[in-house]
Amino acid sequence: MKHTPIAPHVAWFRDAAPYINAHRDRTFVIAFGGEAALQPGFAALLHDIAILQTLGVRLVLVHGARPQIEERLRARGAEIRYVNGLRITDEQALRAVKDAAGSLRVEIEALLSMGLANTPMSGVRVRVSSGNFVTARPLGVRDGVDYQHTGEVRRVDTEGLRRHLQSGEMVLLPPMGYSPTGEIFNLSAEDVAIAAAVALKADKLIFFSDTQDLRDEDQTPITHLTADQAETLLQGPRAIPDELAAHLRSAITACRQTVERVHIVDRRQDGALLMELYTREGAGTLVTGERYERLRPAQIEDVGGILELIHPLEAEGILVRRSREQLELEIERFAVIEQDGMILACAALYPFPEEQVGELACVAVHADYRGGGRAEMLAEYLETRARALGITRLFVLTTRTAHWFRERGFEPGELKALPISRQQMYNYQRNSKIFIKPLPAARRKPG
Ligand SMILES: CC(C)(COP(=O)(O)OP(=O)(O)OC[C@H]1O[C@@H](n2cnc3c(N)ncnc32)[C@H](O)[C@@H]1OP(=O)(O)O)[C@@H](O)C(=O)NCCC(=O)NCCS
Repeated sequence: MKHTPIAPHVAWFRDAAPYINAHRDRTFVIAFGGEAALQPGFAALLHDIAILQTLGVRLVLVHGARPQIEERLRARGAEIRYVNGLRITDEQALRAVKDAAGSLRVEIEALLSMGLANTPMSGVRVRVSSGNFVTARPLGVRDGVDYQHTGEVRRVDTEGLRRHLQSGEMVLLPPMGYSPTGEIFNLSAEDVAIAAAVALKADKLIFFSDTQDLRDEDQTPITHLTADQAETLLQGPRAIPDELAAHLRSAITACRQTVERVHIVDRRQDGALLMELYTREGAGTLVTGERYERLRPAQIEDVGGILELIHPLEAEGILVRRSREQLELEIERFAVIEQDGMILACAALYPFPEEQVGELACVAVHADYRGGGRAEMLAEYLETRARALGITRLFVLTTRTAHWFRERGFEPGELKALPISRQQMYNYQRNSKIFIKPLPAARRKPG
């Protein structure tokens, strides 16, 4: 193979490939407000959504219609009534809801039916279906206010939705639902999206927002936070724009009900959806449902917890024995994952600065918490720490975990490749295998 520089598109394509593979056959629910349909970038947004569909993502689109409903009410000289942020949908408002939702539906279907050459839609056939998938019930009378045809989601026809998704159709859900009594109710698009995502056990729920992305005190975009952290942020003193706060609250609700990943993406940024889903950097905020676990450098107080974690593995001969004194002396070499004061996992990095190599050691995850990617997170964290120390190669000595390391880029190595001081300490009786990994480039943001 000739060594010519790689074209940027090829590099981009290679970087995107893991995400394309990870998202294929996954179910995403995407929600956007009716405001999106009024913006010039709406066609481009829908065409990006169509690209997801062609890459094998199963999609449910949920749209709002608030500005379209209000426009119709104003044209009829009708009153627009909200109490506690909820519309009172009387007969006249219900007519506006039906009109607006119907007309938005055909506009969306038309944009998804485009097939012009020189557009992303060339050669694409997107089949869209919609129907009576959402059963609703009236919100009823609250604090003496009768909300009439404003409703809430009662259930979602999961089986019906799945059937359409499995046959390759995109499903479009309006902010409306039907009751067994044959009535029509106006629903919040966000509630419909959450209910659909929970019912389908969707892999992702994506909200498009109209406001600036979420930033910390230093104005650095917050790209990833847990539902618990989002809650703390909402309760804190910082002012968060209303719409963003509403999305965060919806994200927390969805995460608490089993949706593991909720993305909030700025829809005014052209291509932000594709950036968020198919690039390392992303372009939005990901809220995850994990319980709040902290990966951090170990402190002296962690010695007891680490010993508890590694003692059974030492007894089995999987890890080399470490005394409490030794661990206390070496504690700053360790990183841990802690949840509510319990040490769930640990790993250590022993640097050999002169040789620019480092040893990754004592990688251990509590038996109840294995298979959750924690060891990998620790290894990546220590790799970053190693790179900061100028280390260019990592090695491990292991007796039973060879494949775990091989699957993460470590190659079999020889004793003589280790620093002399480490060679002298090699335990021939233990006969550990040696694996070495050159340190890779920057790490990926979670998909
Ligand atoms: C190895 C260990 C650290 C992995 O922790 P983890 O948090 O479950 O790891 P991850 O979630 O990142 O990876 C899980 C994957 O590793 C695999 N794996 C676990 N132990 C393995 C082993 N001994 N050999 C090969 N693969 C192994 C799992 O099968 C799983 O892969 P799969 O999903 O394809 O089945 C954990 O099993 C452990 O603590 N083992 C005992 C201690 C040990 O062996 N330490 C390494 C010596 S330094």
